Amino acid sequence: MNTEIFQIKDLRKDKDKLEKAAKILKRGGLVAIPTETVYGLAADCLNQQAVAGIFAAKGRPGDNPLIVHLADIADACRYAGQLPDSFYRLAERFCPGPLTMIVPKGDCVPFITSGGLDTVALRFPAHPVARELIRLSGCGLAAPSANRSGSPSPTTAQHCIQDMSGRIDAVVDGGNCPIGVESTVVSLVGDKVRLLRPGAVTPQQLAEVVGEVEIDPAVTRQLEKDVQAASPGMKYKHYAPSAKVVIVQGSPEEYRRFVNDAEGKGVVALCFAEDAPFLSKPCVVMGREGDELSQAQGLFACLRRLDELGARLAYARCPSREGMGLAVYNRLLRAAAFETVTLGQKEVCENE
Ligand code: TXA
Ligand code: MG
Repeated sequence: MNTEIFQIKDLRKDKDKLEKAAKILKRGGLVAIPTETVYGLAADCLNQQAVAGIFAAKGRPGDNPLIVHLADIADACRYAGQLPDSFYRLAERFCPGPLTMIVPKGDCVPFITSGGLDTVALRFPAHPVARELIRLSGCGLAAPSANRSGSPSPTTAQHCIQDMSGRIDAVVDGGNCPIGVESTVVSLVGDKVRLLRPGAVTPQQLAEVVGEVEIDPAVTRQLEKDVQAASPGMKYKHYAPSAKVVIVQGSPEEYRRFVNDAEGKGVVALCFAEDAPFLSKPCVVMGREGDELSQAQGLFACLRRLDELGARLAYARCPSREGMGLAVYNRLLRAAAFETVTLGQKEVCENE
């Protein structure tokens, strides 16, 4: 299959390209699209064959449900069953934006989209290109991240092309994703609002709107083998480069000494900008210390960079778990398959 590339610089001037991409979606094709978080691999969420194509192109397990992307809050009732009050309160504050809400599934949404569950994940992306494509196609768009299953999520069109060229109909290039990690996922199905995946909308911000927020244990811990995941995506190996990643917990000085003393071939530091001048190993800089947004923006591209460098072992600075840092930490933990070393007498990582 030939994968077309549509570069969008200006919504009005490039309208014809957006219309072509929307036409592909309307007729059941697969198109990678930019969102404010990461690129998504989109198809009409009501078209079972198109959705099956997403699973095939990604190599994604069939029990891992997809998020349905909509342009307007008012459309939610078409795709959902009874919507709780918390849905409207959260939507008013955070949508359009990087928040996904899990609610009872509407009858029109096929089980292939919901991974066999009777719930559906709804998101209202803020990215103007994504919103325009939803409007022009007239479809709710099922869209997981546009990477091959298991590899880091794409934050540029180039990443989508690397993973998906020849497997999908088109890539819409809308530039770099401004946030860099996937949306916050909350379940509104039980009696309490439950955080299943941290993102740019933080637990503190959610709590301001709905009061108490339960944090699912899978956010910072490895699930036991026989425990059922609230969010099926959490049980799969994720975001992993070929290099082994180990998170190093300790002060900046302890981290730098540890990395400089490390022996063996192919050791790379996945560090903050402030560390680089003090390190004698090759560095991949994932952002600035204390600037969690910069870390989120850089993380996935850095994980891909490790492979380009032929790294064998990457020692990563442990991000803070404050604000958006929790999202960076959650993704890095999975990239590291939960492997952490703790230096000195510092506080111990939560997963230990
Ligand atoms: O920012 C994002 O959310 C990006 C962009 C493209 O919108 N999408 C994304 O999709 O990250 P994906 O498929 O890579 O991750 C969706 C996560 C998975 O962990 C999945 O298991 C979970 O959401 N999920 C989806 N529907 C669910 C449901 N009904 N119940 C529980 N978890 C669900
Ligand atoms: Mg994903």
